[in-house]
Amino acid sequence: MIKSSKRKIEFLKKEYFNITVSQLTGNILELGYDQGDNFKYYNSSCNVIAIDKKKVNINTENNINVIQKDVVDKLPFNNNYFDYVVFTFFLCTITDKENVIKEIHRVLKKNGQIIYLEHVASNSSIYHLTQIFLSPITKTIFNNCSLNNRIRPFLEKYFKIKEIEEIENYIEPYEFGIWLKKHST
Ligand SMILES: C[S@@+](CC[C@H](N)C(=O)[O-])C[C@H]1O[C@@H](n2cnc3c(N)ncnc32)[C@H](O)[C@@H]1O
Repeated sequence: MIKSSKRKIEFLKKEYFNITVSQLTGNILELGYDQGDNFKYYNSSCNVIAIDKKKVNINTENNINVIQKDVVDKLPFNNNYFDYVVFTFFLCTITDKENVIKEIHRVLKKNGQIIYLEHVASNSSIYHLTQIFLSPITKTIFNNCSLNNRIRPFLEKYFKIKEIEEIENYIEPYEFGIWLKKHST
């Protein structure tokens, strides 16, 4: 999201995200919807609640409701409410990832799933060191977006992997993931 062009992001979403997300039914929570670029992927039979901390004025389909809210606070939903929680290039901007992932776990139903596309921390030590070095700069310039986006340790605590696609891309590798809610943590 930092260096990537809009075209690249659209390509990644079409390639890795669209097929899964367009088949979802039930209650869906999208976090960090920004300009609502992902709304076109949802089919009309699901109910989507989308949250972003900034105010965005966009027209949405009837089955999509937007809420302005900081997700670092407690999510305003009952336990076990959503079938899926979806986000793209969102956790990279969150400092307290553990708390947000714990809240996602709480609001997901039994067997609920997280579906995401993120740029993540690199597995290559040289690229990872570069990410660590550059992250203070990217956080300052790009609304708290960290290149060193380590999400697995937090996800593994509350979820188990259903599917992972790693997409190598130098200092900005991507990951498409589907994780299942663990029953106990
Ligand atoms: C990089 S943008 C994501 C863009 C979008 N999901 C996409 O794929 O194009 C990150 C979004 O997360 C939102 N965000 C960041 N921290 C947040 C928080 N604590 N609570 C709610 N939204 C947050 C930002 O306002 C921004 O719209």
